[in-house]
Amino acid sequence: MDMQLTVEQLAVLETDGNLVINAVAGSGKTSTLIEYAKSRPSDSRILYLAFNRTVKSEATQRFARASLSNVRVETAHSLAFDYVVKGSGYRMSQGYKSYDWCEILGIKTGDRQTDFVLANHVKNSSAFFAIAKQSVCRTSITAAL
Ligand SMILES: Nc1ncnc2c1ncn2[C@@H]1O[C@H](COP(=O)(O)OP(=O)(O)OP(=O)(O)O)[C@@H](O)[C@H]1O
Ligand SMILES: [Mg+2]
Repeated sequence: MDMQLTVEQLAVLETDGNLVINAVAGSGKTSTLIEYAKSRPSDSRILYLAFNRTVKSEATQRFARASLSNVRVETAHSLAFDYVVKGSGYRMSQGYKSYDWCEILGIKTGDRQTDFVLANHVKNSSAFFAIAKQSVCRTSITAAL
């Protein structure tokens, strides 16, 4: 049986321009997006950017169950990985130490302790996403700092 959409869900479906929706957990966001994708042409290109891998996996299954091929489901990391790492032929490298990060990023605040605290933050955040090419690291991580 087809789900009876709420007024808010229908309003989303009828929107053509940009739209920001704030909705609490379990309120029907993914269901709305499934209906949204169904109402769009099958050759349209919709990106569903999920918060983490668990959400990505659930959404992938739900879009597949709805036989939708116009939605690509990714996390921010998987999307960036495809474009930046695979797309540019970079190799992954793991295991930089805090002092490596100080060196790579030229972290020199004048206080060695502060340098290491900063470098340690970088090390922790890059643990699953370390890129071998230093130029990319320097650009993306310096921007984050
Ligand atoms: N209009 C509706 N009428 C009845 N049930 C609905 C409606 N919209 C969504 N649901 C149901 O509500 C439940 C939660 O929906 P959904 O998973 O889409 O929410 P969500 O906001 O994406 O949740 P989460 O925050 O966990 O990602 C599902 O069982 C879905 O079938
Ligand atoms: Mg959801």
